[in-house]
Amino acid sequence: MKVSFDKLALPENGALVILAEKDAPFTGLAAEADNAVSGALSKAKDVSNFTGAAGQVKEIIAPAGLAVERVVLLGLGDKGIDSNYSGLTTGATVVSTLLNSGSETATVIASDDDAVAIAEGALLRSYRFDKYRTKEPESKKPTLKTIIVATGNPDAAAEAFLERERVIDGVFMTRDLVSEPANILHPESFADEITSLSDLGVEVEVLGEAEMAELGMNALLGVGQGSDKESKLVIMRWNGGNEGDQPLAFVGKGVTFDTGGISLKPGEGMEQMKWDMGGAGTVVGLMKALAGRKAKANIVATVGLVENMPSGNAQRPGDVVTSMSGQTIEILNTDAEGRLVLCDAIWYTQDKYKPKFIIDLATLTGAIIISLGNEYAGIFSDSDELSMQLSAAGSQTGDKVWRMPIHENYDKMINCDIADMKNIGGRAAGSITAAQFLKRFTNDVPWVHIDIAGTVWSEKDLPLSAKGGTGFGVRLLDRFVADNYEG
Ligand code: BES
Ligand code: MN
Ligand code: ZN
Repeated sequence: MKVSFDKLALPENGALVILAEKDAPFTGLAAEADNAVSGALSKAKDVSNFTGAAGQVKEIIAPAGLAVERVVLLGLGDKGIDSNYSGLTTGATVVSTLLNSGSETATVIASDDDAVAIAEGALLRSYRFDKYRTKEPESKKPTLKTIIVATGNPDAAAEAFLERERVIDGVFMTRDLVSEPANILHPESFADEITSLSDLGVEVEVLGEAEMAELGMNALLGVGQGSDKESKLVIMRWNGGNEGDQPLAFVGKGVTFDTGGISLKPGEGMEQMKWDMGGAGTVVGLMKALAGRKAKANIVATVGLVENMPSGNAQRPGDVVTSMSGQTIEILNTDAEGRLVLCDAIWYTQDKYKPKFIIDLATLTGAIIISLGNEYAGIFSDSDELSMQLSAAGSQTGDKVWRMPIHENYDKMINCDIADMKNIGGRAAGSITAAQFLKRFTNDVPWVHIDIAGTVWSEKDLPLSAKGGTGFGVRLLDRFVADNYEG
């Protein structure tokens, strides 16, 4: 979808979108449109139940006197647009309302303050993953192709929007990766895909199994051992900050398909495990966003790419592996594989790059969905400061995070009789024991683990994304970096 800005003038075609506060008369250009049709818009409002309540939508086929096809009134409630997030959702509602309306263009009247957020929300909501649909009837295809935000200072808005668009490129890349089926996106093809980021100036390094074996990453390698695809560790670096400044580190779980391994998952719903690479997908999209908008920070990002398959060569329950850190792990359940991938990736990242902090992202546990549903991602951290910074970025972007506890008493639950630890902690506090496991590999570098199992994918349309991959975390972390670690 094309999103652009124009001056405040009545459009000649498509749909005109009027944002209406609750029980308020039309003003400005909206009043002009109403006058051009002798008050027919006010009348439509008066004779219907449209009050301007938040989320209310009224479509009016344009009365004679207006060149456009239709006028859409969109209710903003009492407060109007009072935050960045409400600007985003307003723009997104324009798209979800008009996507299949028949109109190709929608012109939204916006204030200078809200124009950019409206444009951003509209573009975010326009994404579809339709590359495998070859027979979609024309009547089902979206008609809307262009959004024009009419505003007082279109040039300034367009300038500010440039960076937003680069961030959305990252969100869309994440959604593409997460939506891709596992026969297409496996560790080898995923690594190839990531190398495309070098066009933006990201340094990309790919380690294969031989190199990882050399480094002693037996925890990660054990997970991929049953797969015909070669496991990969991909390291991305963006050096937009001062030379010598400690990098910020992001680490992602990239299990391109999680069958559970020998501890095989039940068949029902297993197809969802194609998005078990969501942590890696988010980290890659984040790098695209940061490099695309030339963030003034040094960043290192590492993703562990493996496929968790049962086979004659697969890891068994009861196997003991020695991680790169030297700590040994008894594998009691081959389906608790994400932590095994992350523990080597985290250890490697802190050991090699000495980062200021590490944030890992992973679709790590089903238990986080039991705790928080699909609204919030869970964050686990030993840093109050990082946790607060992430919560603030979450409210601004709508990628909400909720802090969960960690404590040494939970840590004890993964102690093991025959090795340094076991890879499961039992049914209770499943997300927390998973986090405690990861904490044993941070080497006391300030750290946040974000469990995104409930937020990577949505079975229903959301305010800012159609059902499917959400791109959760890209805008959260882009905002977190921008607000706290640049300049
Ligand atoms: N990838 C899953 C977690 C998951 C489950 C993500 C559902 C999204 C939706 C992870 O590898 C896993 O299987 N975790 C197990 C851990 C258990 C064996 C300790 C789980 O959550 O059941
Ligand atoms: Mn699993
Ligand atoms: Zn998994």
